[in-house]
Amino acid sequence: MISREFSANVNEMQNLDSGSIVSAQFQGGEDEVIQFENKLRPVSLTDYIGQEEIKRNLTITIEASKKRKETLDHVLLHGPAGLGKTSLAMIVAREMGGALKITSGPALERQGDVASMLTNLKEGDVLFIDEIHRMRAPVEEVLYSAMEDFCIDIMLGKGPSARSVRLNLPKFTLIGATTKMSLLSAPLRDRFGSVFKFAFYTEEEMIQIISRTSKLLNLSIESGAATKIAQCSRQTPRIANRLVKRIRDYAEYHDIASVNEIIAHSALRDLGVDTLGLDQTDRSILKTILEKFNGGPVGLNTLSSALSEEEATIEEIYEPYLIQLGFLERTPRGRVVTNRGQNHLTLSPKHS
Ligand SMILES: Nc1ncnc2c1ncn2[C@@H]1O[C@H](COP(=O)(O)OP(=O)(O)O)[C@@H](O)[C@H]1O
Ligand SMILES: [Mg+2]
Repeated sequence: MISREFSANVNEMQNLDSGSIVSAQFQGGEDEVIQFENKLRPVSLTDYIGQEEIKRNLTITIEASKKRKETLDHVLLHGPAGLGKTSLAMIVAREMGGALKITSGPALERQGDVASMLTNLKEGDVLFIDEIHRMRAPVEEVLYSAMEDFCIDIMLGKGPSARSVRLNLPKFTLIGATTKMSLLSAPLRDRFGSVFKFAFYTEEEMIQIISRTSKLLNLSIESGAATKIAQCSRQTPRIANRLVKRIRDYAEYHDIASVNEIIAHSALRDLGVDTLGLDQTDRSILKTILEKFNGGPVGLNTLSSALSEEEATIEEIYEPYLIQLGFLERTPRGRVVTNRGQNHLTLSPKHS
């Protein structure tokens, strides 16, 4: 069971919203988007596609804890946006039979926020803190004793008469999720019993996810089309889901009963998504560096002005995939487009 009051907080924490169709970032805020995500979430480990190593290890930990009738040790999930961290946290809570409370690092502003959250937990409950690296230090410190000894010290009163009172907490499980493992402090990281790193999905897994999503959205889709969408989804389920949803609109608009590869191709082209899943902005980043800056190096700051895009958006949303494809390099003197990047633009000029 997900507590409503806390699920609202999840929307507040997404500060980077590029609005791009191929952005892995959660573009929350609207109820419709949140409902869409929830409708497509896998509800059990068997329903959860890929991440085999994580699933195998989690199953062992979960089953062992259940046998010992103990609560599950704290779990840290890390990896890029849209790979299934929130979904997995929900599944773990369900498997353990505890209630799930959801919050996020930025939503826990004061020590009191985290204290009241912790004291409201019951034994076996799961507290999910998304973007846990964005928690302020004083708030984080409250978590240390809570995680380790299941107690917190709170100050009562002010000035000379202030005194510290120790409160015992029920045994709970903390699940933390982060896209930036490097920003997590060592004391916090060390207090997690298991740490799982998410991997990008293979094409085969993406095809399975796309087929599953299409079924849930009542969209009939042929295998060639599923493969096509998989290749354009940046190995990320959230992006795949968004593309399937837009292709369903396309099919409905054109009165198409079943989506084949050719239709998927045209729909993706109309959406401005190319064969590798690059969108208009990805291509203008490459194009701008090539045409205005001779292929680079160009500083992020200059690039940001030339493109009228925020530095953080370029750096955190667009660049990682361009770098992963080997199209862009970050050098000490700035960004450089590689030959591969240049070739991709000349090979798919229709899109640029
Ligand atoms: N392993 C998976 N199997 C099936 N669908 C998945 C999987 N991982 C993610 N998804 C889909 O992608 C969407 C985004 O996943 P989410 O758990 O919110 O990612 P994260 O929290 O890592 O940003 C979910 O709504 C779900 O439909
Ligand atoms: Mg999430």
